[in-house]
Amino acid sequence: MQNSTFYITTPIYYPSDKLHIGHAYCTVAADAIARYKRQCGYDVYFLTGSDEHGQKIERAAKNNNETPKQYVDRIVAGFVSLWKLLDISNDGFIRTTDEYHIKSVQRIFKKLYDQGDIYKSTYTGHYCTPCESFWLERQLVDGCCPDCSRPTELVEEESYFFRMSKYAPRLIEHIKTHPEFIQPPARANEMLQNFLLPGLEDLCVSRTSFKWGIPVDFDEKHVVYVWLDALSNYITKLGFYSSDDSLYKKYWPCDIHLVGKEIVRFHTIIWPIMLMALNEPLPKQVFGHGWLVLDGGKMSKSKGNVVDPVALCNRYGVDAIRYFLLREVPFGSDGVFSNEALIFRINSDLANDLGNLLSRTVAMIEKYFNSRIPAPLEDNNELDENLRALCLGLTEEIRSCMDELKLPEALGAIFKVVDASNKYIDQNTPWLLAKNEASMPRLQTVLYHLAESLRFIGVSLKPFLTSTPDKIFTSLGINDAGLMTLQSLKTFFALKPGTAIVKGEPIFPRIDVKKELLALEQESLEKPAQAIEEQAQARTANEESPEESLIDYEDFAKLDLRLAKVIACEEVKRSKSLLKLTLKVGDSERTVLSGIQKWYSPETLINKTVVLVANLKPKKLCNIESRGMILCASDEGDEHLTIITSEGELPDGTKVR
Ligand code: ME8
Repeated sequence: MQNSTFYITTPIYYPSDKLHIGHAYCTVAADAIARYKRQCGYDVYFLTGSDEHGQKIERAAKNNNETPKQYVDRIVAGFVSLWKLLDISNDGFIRTTDEYHIKSVQRIFKKLYDQGDIYKSTYTGHYCTPCESFWLERQLVDGCCPDCSRPTELVEEESYFFRMSKYAPRLIEHIKTHPEFIQPPARANEMLQNFLLPGLEDLCVSRTSFKWGIPVDFDEKHVVYVWLDALSNYITKLGFYSSDDSLYKKYWPCDIHLVGKEIVRFHTIIWPIMLMALNEPLPKQVFGHGWLVLDGGKMSKSKGNVVDPVALCNRYGVDAIRYFLLREVPFGSDGVFSNEALIFRINSDLANDLGNLLSRTVAMIEKYFNSRIPAPLEDNNELDENLRALCLGLTEEIRSCMDELKLPEALGAIFKVVDASNKYIDQNTPWLLAKNEASMPRLQTVLYHLAESLRFIGVSLKPFLTSTPDKIFTSLGINDAGLMTLQSLKTFFALKPGTAIVKGEPIFPRIDVKKELLALEQESLEKPAQAIEEQAQARTANEESPEESLIDYEDFAKLDLRLAKVIACEEVKRSKSLLKLTLKVGDSERTVLSGIQKWYSPETLINKTVVLVANLKPKKLCNIESRGMILCASDEGDEHLTIITSEGELPDGTKVR
């Protein structure tokens, strides 16, 4: 086992969006798998990085008044520090702007061209810039990108094409004969039914209408299609087509490409066909995980529903966040992120179950045995035997879960031992044993078992949580690294009696749920002002590139704008910014919250006719559901703000167009 290699990758992230907790989800999961494999003795290479080319980045940089390189340098620095904060143990970090990558991609492109798999023609079709994807007319849904539902652009340009069609039968065969290649299995079916079996078109693999990409070195007005560039990262970082390809020889083929479900398509169609054309082995597995969703939708900056992982780590601690991400979502399915669910997990699993187990055990050893772990004196008690059996079976149970990437189940197995240990305390009532001198041997045995079971828990948690296992070892006085290995979990009585324990602070302080939720709600109230600021910035950016801010009439027509009469208005208690307006809109009334307290006192708004966005999704703030938004105009610094009103005689309910 010692010398087996294991290569795992995450996708490389676009620097166009701020990384959110959904991105952290994939990277933390890959990190747990990598750490687990290292713990099992594998020689692991874990790669992540940034996908820095393409039209999307070029536009974002322009909107930000930066060169693309300045833009990506700034944002990628944030990625690196986020991964550091989350204790991500990646062995490599690739940037697609790295010189070795550029050279290697150019060689790949040239090789495919020389052997006739890439040819020149003209592309006419649809392009989704946010997804950097080409689509055929028949694949669009209501004229929009089938993946993200945003409008596509019609493009016609001279392009190079990749003969995907030539390799399709081989790929179909590979998928059918290698059920482990695409996981979970439903995704394999989706690829076959939706893309491969209906017939694969050749893929457009170069663009000429923008510059920010890897130039095709034999035809410099073309840049390489960003997905061809990005997918190659998995081998260029290992030195593929470079003077030193020793890492490639050592680690390729990849064991697991861990990717989000929406990009399984690129990884199981374009990528294997590229490798087939290069005559290289295919990755062993592409695993498509689900999304972390919020309010029923995928997190994305454009939807304004991102959750900042840095803020969460600072508030609750890195291990609490890692635990939540790894435990809460069945791996492969979508999972919902909410503050309530996070706090519940922290309190119930980490503070109550694990934290209390450790603090009770350590406190009793301190109290009854002068802070030294007592020697077990009995070996024929059924309760002890059961606990030992559970501990000794844990490694195997985790292995079977991790072999199928069932990360929540692996953590579940560890917490079964936590639960059993807490139950063991209740069954043995050590505080009663301590009252009777004759029960001392039993008390010693019980406390030894608890300490040793905590060692099993600490070692098993190492791939998932990064500081908690050390805190457990420190509390138990364990500093012998030999007692922290998976190997050491083969024997139960490894912990040395007499070891001095060290009583510390609770490892996971309990959170006061009511107070915390109230505090979070208060903070979210400050957001409207922040949102206005962001909108102002977006507006300024758009003014600089007006051609990119144009929308179709159909987009505008989606808004249901109505005249509405303010019939009541009051300040929202506990909020410094919100007013609660009761609006009459034709025959109906509705409540709308607006962050305009700073500019208007409630009584001045009564009887005013305002403009309401009537078909906005309802949103709860301060326990009040707001159904819509009223339109305001404000200057850049929000010093002056006025609501938009109607002066004429038109009644409330009238449509604004
Ligand atoms: O797709 N929950 O980059 P990306 C879970 N550059 N995962 C999420 C998520 C969420 N809410 N939001 C995003 C790209 N992700 C390309 C990859 S690889 C050669 C090129 C995941 O920054 C998403 O599913 O848009 C994807 O796997 C990853 O974040 C990167 O997304």
